[in-house]
Amino acid sequence: MPRPITKAVIPAAGMGTRFLPATKAMPKEMLPVVDMPAIQYVVEEAVAAGLHDVLMITGRNKTALENHFDKVGELEQALLAKGDAEKLEKVRRSTDLADVHYVRQGDPLGLGHAVLRARMHVGDEPFAVLLGDDIIDSRDVLLARMLEVQAQRNTTVIALLEVDPSVAHQYGIATVEPTDDPDLVRITSLVEKPAPGTAPSNLAVIGRYVLRPEIFDILEATPPGKGGEIQLTDALQALATGPEWAGGVYGVVFRGRRYDTGDRLDYLKAIVQLASDRDDLGPDFRAWLKPFAAGLSDTVPADGMLTEP
Ligand code: UTP
Repeated sequence: MPRPITKAVIPAAGMGTRFLPATKAMPKEMLPVVDMPAIQYVVEEAVAAGLHDVLMITGRNKTALENHFDKVGELEQALLAKGDAEKLEKVRRSTDLADVHYVRQGDPLGLGHAVLRARMHVGDEPFAVLLGDDIIDSRDVLLARMLEVQAQRNTTVIALLEVDPSVAHQYGIATVEPTDDPDLVRITSLVEKPAPGTAPSNLAVIGRYVLRPEIFDILEATPPGKGGEIQLTDALQALATGPEWAGGVYGVVFRGRRYDTGDRLDYLKAIVQLASDRDDLGPDFRAWLKPFAAGLSDTVPADGMLTEP
């Protein structure tokens, strides 16, 4: 029986250029989704799946991330003095959530390069990777199922989502064959961001992976790919088509709610959906949102706000 996986690696060192200027001085993983930074949703998900040892791969502007998961004595004192137990609990939660470690990526040379920076901390055991800007709705199960598949098959497991073919070129795309489990497929090939109209399927790789330690040697040997970056997808392609002993790559097809908060449109959708469903904000927000949405026309009004400089 393999030992259960306990380590989660969260890459959060990307440049976040799609969100400039908000990400000029702050990582995109710190953007608030309602009232919690995106990265806290991701850490909450890791902990809920039993992964209490969290390694964040950080880049420039890492201070905000570290501060968020650190103790803030004066804020706690002020809330204590006011007797505001509810807010105190919110402040303390991110500090107590997990055992959080940090390593710098140095230059942001791609997701594969970021994962490689976890090698020393992870050692010789399987581990999970959760992208820090990718939120999986906590009401839908993904990571627990991926860990289950890993334990059963001792293999590499990635997460797949069916996307509209018109956006397939924005993702890593998998070619697959079925297994006996309806939500599980075997990956026969992977391609990172295929040219528009050439994607071999509409199964996109999303930001959850359960990897075996061999991935590190493969990443070491992976040359820069799309965009001049060391791509995790390329290393996974080598595993999927590699030697039998490596166990291949399996994909869990996720049919739940997922928000790519590094993308502005998806970020807005995440906030609207999550706020609408909240017990505290939902009733008032919905009461405002319904007539607002009903009154929208199909085009931006002539006096609409400037969107692009
Ligand atoms: P993205 O491709 O979405 O990040 O990476 P990006 O490059 O920051 O995005 P844009 O296109 O410039 O807006 C997915 C995840 O991988 C991390 C990111 O922080 C994000 O969580 N990443 C990416 C790294 O940690 N290091 C890298 O070199 C690249």
